[in-house]
Amino acid sequence: MTESIHPTHKSHAEIEKEWDAIAPIRDTQISQGKDISFLKVLLPAIEQLTISSNFSRVLDVGCGVGFITEAFSTKANYIVGVDLSKRSIELAQKRLHDAHHAHFYSRSIEEFSQQTAPHSFSLAIANMTLMTSLDLLSLLRAVARLLCTGAHFVFTITHPCFWSHYWGYDTADWFHYNQEIVVEAPFKISFDTSGTITTHVHRPLSQYFSSLIEVGFLIEAVLEPFPPPDTDPKYLRNWKQPRFLAIRCVRE
Ligand SMILES: C[S@@+](CC[C@H](N)C(=O)[O-])C[C@H]1O[C@@H](n2cnc3c(N)ncnc32)[C@H](O)[C@@H]1O
Repeated sequence: MTESIHPTHKSHAEIEKEWDAIAPIRDTQISQGKDISFLKVLLPAIEQLTISSNFSRVLDVGCGVGFITEAFSTKANYIVGVDLSKRSIELAQKRLHDAHHAHFYSRSIEEFSQQTAPHSFSLAIANMTLMTSLDLLSLLRAVARLLCTGAHFVFTITHPCFWSHYWGYDTADWFHYNQEIVVEAPFKISFDTSGTITTHVHRPLSQYFSSLIEVGFLIEAVLEPFPPPDTDPKYLRNWKQPRFLAIRCVRE
C-alpha cells in the first residue's frame, strides 16, 4: 500500500481547491495526449453509450477543464459544463470561446440545479465525477431534476471492485469494501505523476446502483471498458482487471 494514500474527511471547499490546483496540469496532460485512459478507454466508452442519445441540450456534470464538453460540442445543439473548480472552468471557457452554443458555470451541480428550470436537458454526461463527489445522492438528485423524462445519463467512474486493488490500498487496515470511504491520494495517470493531492470516495457498487434507482434512474447499459489492443504496450501491461465502469441510465 502506498503510504501517501489515506482515509480523510473533506468539505466541498477543500475539494474545489484541489481541482483548482490541478486544473492546468489536467489541461496539459489531456491536450498533449498523455492521459491514455481518457483518450483510449473513457471517451470511447461514453461515445459508445451515447450513440442513440438526444444531443439537443447536453449537460457535462463536473466538466473539469472541458475536454468532454469539447468532444461532444460538435454533436450538441447546446451544451453546458458545470464544475466546482473556478480555475477549471476558466480553462474550459478559454478553449471553447469560439463555440457560442457552449456555456460554463463554476458552481456545484446541486447549486446549478436549484438555479435552473427542471427537465432542461436531454442528455447528461459525467466523466469520472461521481467518485469525486462527497455526497452521491445529492449529486444524483440534482442530475435527475435537470433531465427530462426519457433522457440519458451516461457516466464513468473508477471501478468500485478493482480500483482499491489497482492503487494498492485494498489490503490497508482502514479499507472495507462495504463502506463509503473518503480517500486522499496523489493524482497520477499512467505516464505522469503530478504529486498534487486529490480526493476520491470509495463506495460499494451496490451503493451506486441503489442511489441511481432511488432518484428515478433506470440502468440501461453497463460497460467495463478495456483499452484497444493497439494501445502503447507499456500502458496495456497492468490491465488485468477493468479499472473503470461506464453506465447509461434513463430518467424515468
Ligand atoms: C476527476 S475530475 C473529472 C473532470 C472532467 N469530467 C474530465 O473528464 O476531465 C472530477 C471533477 O468533478 C468536479 N466535481 C466534484 N463534485 C462536484 C459537484 N458536486 N458539482 C460540480 N462539480 C463537481 C471536480 O471539481 C472535478 O473537476
